[in-house]
Amino acid sequence: MRITLDKIEENNFGSSIASNMLRAITVFLAFKCILIEAQPSCNFTEDTKRDLICTAGSSDYVLVRGLVSSNNRTTRITLRDCNIIDVDFEAFHQMPALEYLDLSQNKIKNLKLGVLDEFMRLKFLNLSHNELEGFPLGLFDEKPNLEVLDLKANNINELELGIFDTLKKLRHVDLSSNALLGIDMNPYIFDQSTRIQVLDFSRNDMSGSKDILLDAFEELHFLNLDRCELNKVPKFVTGPNLKTMKHLILSSNKIRSIDDTKIFKNLENLEILNLSFNSIESVTDNIFSPLKKLKMINMNNNKLKQIPDTLFRSLPRLGNIDMSHNLIEFVPVNAFRNSPIKNLNLADNRFSFLTDNFCLELKNSGTGLVKFYFNQNPWQCACLRDALNEVKSFGIVYNNVKYTGDVPVCVTNDNSFNCIRQMNENSNFVDLYYNLLQINN
Ligand SMILES: *[C@@H]1O[C@H](CO)[C@@H](O)[C@H](O)[C@H]1NC(C)=O
Ligand SMILES: *[C@@H]1O[C@H](CO)[C@@H](O)[C@H](O)[C@H]1NC(C)=O
Ligand SMILES: *[C@@H]1O[C@H](CO)[C@@H](O)[C@H](O)[C@H]1NC(C)=O
Ligand SMILES: *[C@@H]1O[C@H](CO)[C@@H](O)[C@H](O)[C@H]1NC(C)=O
Repeated sequence: MRITLDKIEENNFGSSIASNMLRAITVFLAFKCILIEAQPSCNFTEDTKRDLICTAGSSDYVLVRGLVSSNNRTTRITLRDCNIIDVDFEAFHQMPALEYLDLSQNKIKNLKLGVLDEFMRLKFLNLSHNELEGFPLGLFDEKPNLEVLDLKANNINELELGIFDTLKKLRHVDLSSNALLGIDMNPYIFDQSTRIQVLDFSRNDMSGSKDILLDAFEELHFLNLDRCELNKVPKFVTGPNLKTMKHLILSSNKIRSIDDTKIFKNLENLEILNLSFNSIESVTDNIFSPLKKLKMINMNNNKLKQIPDTLFRSLPRLGNIDMSHNLIEFVPVNAFRNSPIKNLNLADNRFSFLTDNFCLELKNSGTGLVKFYFNQNPWQCACLRDALNEVKSFGIVYNNVKYTGDVPVCVTNDNSFNCIRQMNENSNFVDLYYNLLQINN
């Protein structure tokens, strides 16, 4: 700053007293201007002065006492995307009513011990999209009422044992998109926060986490482990205390098989299980049978070749199955019998036929399909015709975007136009279909 000003003096101003004065005024104005612009501007949304919303100034800013502080009535402060790089002591001085603080989308690298003290009523703290790497032990000590803590998209690589201990009312924690390593995580980190209902660990490496990591939870409903480098269904998500869980996301991992027959035995209230985008090649018979409340299962984009006959048996609420984008060569009608399945997606697999009267059989067993997707399979034309006739006659919704006659959707290799329902023939049609597809592309 000073160097620039000196040069301006040499080039543009003489040494006369007058120009020196002029320079002094210019510098003063420039400084004043920078100070005003740099600071976010804050406004209450209504006359009661409870809800304060700030918008960014022109440059990076250290949040100091005076901008939002000293107001007994303020309950909400939104400092989202305000170029804040640090928070000074007493920045929130005398704000006894503060319940909601949004500091998301700033550039905060660390929070000094004590900067969040004073306001004991805080229920909601959003620190997502900053550059935090961790927290000093004790940072949250004055926050006994905190319920929601959003730490998404920072660089957090360590959580010190005890950091959450005072947060006994915590029910929603988002730690997604950080640099956490499950293998290094102290398994007692959540020991005192037994009331967490929503926990998001997605986009961290949670492989190697200790089995007891979530053992203290009593009310967990939702657990997200999308993109967590998992190569199996980890034990820490299936403990007996997690029988409260309703929604488990394990998508986009590296799970190859699910063969521990007891793995899901405790999850008796699970309603949604997301296993999509893994590399699952095999699942054991009956693996899902403890999931008596399961309503939806997502296994799309895996490498399944077979569906065990008993896979979906005794699941009295299962309405939605997505097994699209797998390598399924044969669809056993028995796997879907006697179940309440409404939506079945088997698009983009490797079967060339369905068993005779597939939909009728299901209907007779009490399975009332409403929507059935089977497009992008290496269909024999005669079998596709049968399947289409069936879904049409039962009024089942199917995906017909490709069935306009413009693109090849099925293959045929004889003149009799009969559907050949023999597994040993399937691979021939599969080869034929993909050759044809290649030629047409
Ligand atoms: C703050 O409120 C005043 C008065 O209602 C208004 O003139 C001004 O534009 C507001 N500023 C911002 C940044 O919203
Ligand atoms: C806020 O409350 C404190 C303690 O009750 C009081 O000393 C202070 O004067 C109040 N400040 C304002 C701005 O009302
Ligand atoms: C936190 O802030 C981000 C972005 O500013 C927002 O998308 C997110 O929904 C907020 N978190 C919660 C729990 O409301
Ligand atoms: C399951 O995960 C996939 C992949 O991440 C995602 O596209 C889908 O929306 C998820 N479904 C549910 C029900 O969460």
